[in-house]
Amino acid sequence: MNQSEAKKRIEELKHQLNKFDHYYYDKALPLITDYEYDELYNELKSIENTFPLLITEDSPTQRVLENTITGFNKIKHNPKMYSLENTYSDNELSNFLKRIKKDTNKINEFIIEPKIDGVAVSIIYENGVFKKAISRGNGITGDDITNNIKTIEELPLVLEGELTGELIVRGEVFFTKETFKELAETYGFSNARNAASGTLKLLNSREAAKRHLSIRIHTVITGLADTDNEILNKLKQMKLPVIEMTKIVNSAENVIKTKDIWKEKRFELPYETDGIVIKLNKLSMRKKIGYTNKSPKWAFAFKYKPENAITKISSVDFQIGRTGVITPVANLEPVQLSGTIVKRATIHNFDEIKRLDIQINDFVEVEKSGEIIPKIIKVIKEKRNGDNTFKIKKPKICPSCRSELIHYNDEVALRCINVNCPARIEGNISHFVSKTGMNIENVGPALIKQLLNENIISSMSDLYKLEIETILPVERMAEKSAENVINSINASKDVPLHRFIYALGIRNVGEYLANILADTYKSIDKLMDAKYDEMMKINGIGDEVAQSVIMFFKNEKNREEIENLLKNGVNPILQIKRNILEEKKFVITGHLDEFTRDSVKRSIIENGGIVLNTISKETDFLIAGENSGSKIKKAEKMNVKIISEKEYLQMLEK
Ligand code: IVH
Repeated sequence: MNQSEAKKRIEELKHQLNKFDHYYYDKALPLITDYEYDELYNELKSIENTFPLLITEDSPTQRVLENTITGFNKIKHNPKMYSLENTYSDNELSNFLKRIKKDTNKINEFIIEPKIDGVAVSIIYENGVFKKAISRGNGITGDDITNNIKTIEELPLVLEGELTGELIVRGEVFFTKETFKELAETYGFSNARNAASGTLKLLNSREAAKRHLSIRIHTVITGLADTDNEILNKLKQMKLPVIEMTKIVNSAENVIKTKDIWKEKRFELPYETDGIVIKLNKLSMRKKIGYTNKSPKWAFAFKYKPENAITKISSVDFQIGRTGVITPVANLEPVQLSGTIVKRATIHNFDEIKRLDIQINDFVEVEKSGEIIPKIIKVIKEKRNGDNTFKIKKPKICPSCRSELIHYNDEVALRCINVNCPARIEGNISHFVSKTGMNIENVGPALIKQLLNENIISSMSDLYKLEIETILPVERMAEKSAENVINSINASKDVPLHRFIYALGIRNVGEYLANILADTYKSIDKLMDAKYDEMMKINGIGDEVAQSVIMFFKNEKNREEIENLLKNGVNPILQIKRNILEEKKFVITGHLDEFTRDSVKRSIIENGGIVLNTISKETDFLIAGENSGSKIKKAEKMNVKIISEKEYLQMLEK
């Protein structure tokens, strides 16, 4: 490329990027995907690097975006909030690692974290008490968003420990995938990061509180220790919600290895991520190599290229969630996307149909975003020809129970308000058995649908009455799978109290609040008789949550269902906050001296382990007592570690 070609291309890119920025920031209407934006931005940056004389002040690469709003006080950041250099390219990542090696002249330790797709904030504690929160703004000055940040349940208002002086921490605010799904349905949001950013800009923090923002802290300003991972541990002890997935590696090869493994592993996190952040672990090394004007030289972000595919929408179904919200789901012509065949895609809500102008028979681009099914990100309009596509009509009646659908207040969501709607019952039971609920492994949505359709069950508690013989007649159910179903239902009976509370599907009570309720009330009986006033005194619980919990337990049908669950053998156990066993999976066999079968199970669960009935490759330990039978052989064959009762007790003493 010669100078005049470069000049021409720079002008084109500047023009395009400025237009996209205007739509994104001023109109909240992203015209292209983040990836497409980054590609153009990086192209501009690289041409400017080669022809530095062509850089002008109005170039998007030179501009710090003003992203503050009227209505909030402005506060200066001290020190300023930097951003990160980022890339999608393996080559550039290698160059970064090489540069670090050269600059520090040493083999270095790196800490790797997921790059959360959220909104950056800075939070100030004084003597351990929450004082202020400031949005990123332009990095130099931000908005005082204290009141909105205070609504984040995970963030303590008082830190644990005897703390003096000022502590400035920085992190990302976001909606978890689960919360966002509900918000997208009710409010018509289409993008989790934009929704979080919009929520932080609300002047009415009561409205912000209703939406349940989350946060993870990744940075502290004052050095609390010599290395980043020690700092994160200290923050954790203070009860700050720090990033839960970190890895320390000490070679460039292992950075690359982790990058490749986390490409998929990151989807296990409860929030969306778009890459990884690699930072030098030792603070002394960071100091040595310092900062550029915009970003630290000791850190780097690698972003994963989103995987897309193009296919055709053949029809649209309307799914009814457990809260009655109707969500459109597109049926697609099957297409290969990152190793799986995709047949369906979510369309979050009816506004999304309008926003993207989605029609039946349209060709669309689908993207894997960490949800169970991918989402539609754009319609390829050029592929429409003549009148071969047609509009998606909003349903007027519930496709399951045929009652009339309504819009609550000014919600975007279309709802079925019939609590006896079969589809809603199905949704409730699916939620009940889910991994984060009762975790009943071999019972999925398809089986639940069959059991309901054939009138074998009509409620959650009916699951615990099932026997092999009763489910054998179900289509495609072989003896072995029937046995697995019954085994996993039985194995779910001893359940941590917080998971049981979550599984009940009380409105507004997600995993986090279920934990708080379990810690406070300590048993399901006590929670069932909770009073509104006492609940309002609990840190992290507001009016809306308290009301929905009280309403839920006031309902006779719900009380009866809980009684039935307990009568049928479900045994919610208060999980003491010890995670010594780190979710390791245990199987028990033979006769034990110190424990009964029930008490050893209880002990495993209380210490953060998981009890399974049968040995599989996933099992971590077999606790073998006297007269152990065939399980020992199986464990040996599958390389499962076999331990005695005494060794188990020693594990708890750690
Ligand atoms: S460390 C000097 N760690 O990504 C900034 N940032 O694109 C050091 N981000 O401005 C930041 N996840 O707001 C760090 N695990 C993580 C992160 C993270 C997301 C954000 C951060 C930063 C932006 C850069």
